Amino acid sequence: MLSYVPSSRRRFLKRFALGSLAFPVAGAMRHGFFLADLEAAAIPNAGAVKISLSEFPSLQDPFGSLRLGMNPVGPDHFPEGAVYPLLITRGIGDAFYALSAECRHESCVVDTYDDFAQGLECPCHHSLYAIDGTVIRGPASKNLKPYASHYDGKDLLTVQVPGVAFAVTPRRQTSAGSNRLRLEFMAEADVVYELQFRANLADAWTSVPFATASDGAMDQTSWSGPEGTAMFYVDRSAARGFYSIVMDWMEV
Ligand code: FES
Repeated sequence: MLSYVPSSRRRFLKRFALGSLAFPVAGAMRHGFFLADLEAAAIPNAGAVKISLSEFPSLQDPFGSLRLGMNPVGPDHFPEGAVYPLLITRGIGDAFYALSAECRHESCVVDTYDDFAQGLECPCHHSLYAIDGTVIRGPASKNLKPYASHYDGKDLLTVQVPGVAFAVTPRRQTSAGSNRLRLEFMAEADVVYELQFRANLADAWTSVPFATASDGAMDQTSWSGPEGTAMFYVDRSAARGFYSIVMDWMEV
């Protein structure tokens, strides 16, 4: 399958490490749920989304707000894919509110905080939610779903997003002459995935090319496709280290 990355995604992309991790390429084969940077999730199957506030001016002032997602939001106000955005709003001081942007009426994507409306408004039927997701005005009758978050007091906000961690199963290629490792995982529709590598746990991750066919050229730098099983191939003769498959998030 060919890589497909709509240009608009790239333009607005900011980098987040979220997703699978990480196994020694030449070591014992493991599989299971892992999170980026080996961070254990407080919630089963959750992904830890790490946000550097210095990269987001909108979160540096009270009532600043943004949406982050893996799928763009369409003109009908629904995600173009299965994953709803994360809606983050800064309160007074160091208070942050992280919510699912899925409206509790009929599931449109709720807008960011609006000073004039003094809340988070749904564009479909104008339900209004308070900064913490509490319903102020219907037709919605339930609050937005909150996500656990932690601010380190300096720059890093970490949000636990349920349901987005995924497993990667590494397998050796068995065909004659192949020196590749196959990384298999369940992909979400239209989410952009990348492969990252680091030689040591203390190193920073860097993106590395991969193949999407067992005999394909090792020149893919990102991949997006339909929901279902996806396979990345890496060269096992490469330097020892750790690989991670990450999902790209962007402002939506
Ligand atoms: S879907 Fe949000 S108010 Fe109806």
